[in-house]
Amino acid sequence: MIPMFSRNHACRRSAADNRRRAESVMRRVKKLHIAAGLPAVNCVPVMRRGYATQSIIGCVARGFDSLAPRTSIITILACIGRNSWYSEGKGILIRWVISVIGFPLFWRAWMTIKATNIIWHAGKVAPDERTAATGNRPCIVWLTGLSGCGKSTIAMSLEHQLVASGHPAYVLDGDNLRHGLNRDLGFSPEDRAENIRRAGEVARLLADAGVIAISSFISPYAADRDAIRAMAGPGQFVEVFVDAPLNICERRDPKGLYKKARAAIAEGRSLMLTGVDAPYEAPRHPEIHLHTESQSVEECVKNILDYLRRESRLVE
Ligand code: ADX
Repeated sequence: MIPMFSRNHACRRSAADNRRRAESVMRRVKKLHIAAGLPAVNCVPVMRRGYATQSIIGCVARGFDSLAPRTSIITILACIGRNSWYSEGKGILIRWVISVIGFPLFWRAWMTIKATNIIWHAGKVAPDERTAATGNRPCIVWLTGLSGCGKSTIAMSLEHQLVASGHPAYVLDGDNLRHGLNRDLGFSPEDRAENIRRAGEVARLLADAGVIAISSFISPYAADRDAIRAMAGPGQFVEVFVDAPLNICERRDPKGLYKKARAAIAEGRSLMLTGVDAPYEAPRHPEIHLHTESQSVEECVKNILDYLRRESRLVE
């Protein structure tokens, strides 16, 4: 360790040299991503120092249950021997220590492990009683897709129609949850995983309570979505792929995020915007596949309602 850092401190490379090395590392990352069957991230010519370390620690804390560790390990492999991920030297040790000590997932994992003496307390309301009271069978409608694909618009319309027809429903929206419950999370792979894990737990509680839980999250990693599917009972997780090509989402750009992301890339920074410089893993077998490029909001909502009726999730 010591020689690595002292060698690094001693090394005063030019900014252009650092950039060249970072670019070369990111090219290798991209190649390894493709070789490992991962989506080819549009790597920006910037090496996010300490990011790989954070990712690894986050993944260890989470028990290696998502795509994140693969991504991180690949990043680290690509960096080894290139002397690039600590290429600017200064402060790397401090950043590393902060990422270890201050990494929230690390502490959360310990909190989970601590809670060993807990026993499930069953309620007295049978599922049929709940269905009779609400007209719903437990159900999570999970909308996934790129930013600007139309998830939130469809989710809100669906909620409105369900409630108007006497079926309790509630939208969990990515942007909205990030104002409160998930305000401590960013957009790194492990933060997104935790974002989705929490959202999934809340959705399950809502579904248990007889409310149709409409969840609208980019949820870019298949593993995170699959974890919720596994947690929900059979037939209770309805994955809806809200599909729109990236160029269409970018043209709509309702929040101006794509514009910001492209500007950041031009300056050599990354906003980790899904589809631009962060990956999106499209669902392979979604229950419902919507195409918002050609279908109206009404058509999309009708599609989902028809499915819910057909699958007896709604009891009329
Ligand atoms: S997720 O990837 O973790 O599922 P989530 O759905 O909660 O994301 O939040 C996505 C919303 O956050 C987007 O609709 C957008 O408004 C906002 N956002 C801000 N920065 C980013 C980013 N880098 N990548 C994706 N979404 C972002």
